Amino acid sequence: MSPTQLLIRELADKYGRSREHLLPIMQGVVEQESFLSEYSMIEIAREMDLPAAEVYGTATFYSFLETKKMGKYIIRVCKTISCAMKGKGQVIMAIQDMLKIPLGETTPDGRFSLLQTNCLGLCHKAPAMMINHDVYTDLTPEKVREILSEYMKKPL
Ligand code: FES
Repeated sequence: MSPTQLLIRELADKYGRSREHLLPIMQGVVEQESFLSEYSMIEIAREMDLPAAEVYGTATFYSFLETKKMGKYIIRVCKTISCAMKGKGQVIMAIQDMLKIPLGETTPDGRFSLLQTNCLGLCHKAPAMMINHDVYTDLTPEKVREILSEYMKKPL
């Protein structure tokens, strides 16, 4: 049994194998492996006795479930109305300039991926972003450059 199969079995034992447990199981895989590979989606379908298309459809519906390999630090900038009106465009441009990658891409060293996300519930402190589980608000291009400089010093 592969490590991925073992992990999925453990998660299925923990949460259960019915349809409503699909999401926590997928999240568990993303936590361990950083994304849901095609292989792991097929194994989840097998373990839970669901059609693979259903697992794939659920994975692609949720923007927090990555289906391709991501960087160590996943930057998610809110693209919804309050953040859009309060300068998320400049924030994204500053990040792109600094990391030299477009939206949706990962830096060649695997440190950062840059994504957009829907409202993070922090509209009163827009523009907002998350880097993995950490939240950053009231962003400006300068502030975002400082934040990213700190992440660049962290070990890979
Ligand atoms: Fe960006 Fe709500 S619109 S946090």
